[in-house]
Amino acid sequence: MNIVVLCSGSGTNLQIIIDKVKSGYIPARIAIVISDKADAFALERAKRARIETLFLNPKNFKNREEFDKELVKKLRDKDVDIVVMAGFIRLVTPYFIDSYRGRIINIHPSLLPAFKGAHGIKDALEYGVKVTGATAHLVEMELDSGPIIMQEALEVKEDDTEETLAQRVHEAEYKIFPEAIKLLVEGRVKIEGRRVKIS
Ligand code: GRF
Repeated sequence: MNIVVLCSGSGTNLQIIIDKVKSGYIPARIAIVISDKADAFALERAKRARIETLFLNPKNFKNREEFDKELVKKLRDKDVDIVVMAGFIRLVTPYFIDSYRGRIINIHPSLLPAFKGAHGIKDALEYGVKVTGATAHLVEMELDSGPIIMQEALEVKEDDTEETLAQRVHEAEYKIFPEAIKLLVEGRVKIEGRRVKIS
């Protein structure tokens, strides 16, 4: 099984995935790591692990679909089976979703469907919820709305700041994301309507 990891930022989730692939916990090979940001530290992490990297510059494409066509072409070249979005801060098009439907997984820093979008941790804190967490889910066209594979909840403390809360949310991500990727790689994620059943 070949996986691609798509990242835009620091790549701490990528690092966990690299480690879990290396230890054999995730029975797959990371064929390539791709970023839409030239300076994403995730690219550096991949290079250090001797994984092929690619920076796809959005400025070189006239629209999102052209970008996604190039991305899919690259993934086909690399025989990618599963697409892992680990902090990939970019909207994708139906072309991309249709090409890998049911095989794209994302990690989101809130308990979906609450606090979709780019600021899941800040939004949860400002809203005043007492419980938040992390969600590993399949990617569909509508943002942060695909079937949920796994969630981990945690308590929001009265003295939490965005930083302290983020730390615990990330710990929750590091716990469930490799597990959910493993299940997807092993073909154990069965989708029935919106519900995911693990076989
Ligand atoms: C994570 O919080 C993830 O939930 C969100 O983007 C962040 C990525 O962080 N989608 P990192 O690049 O893995 O450190």
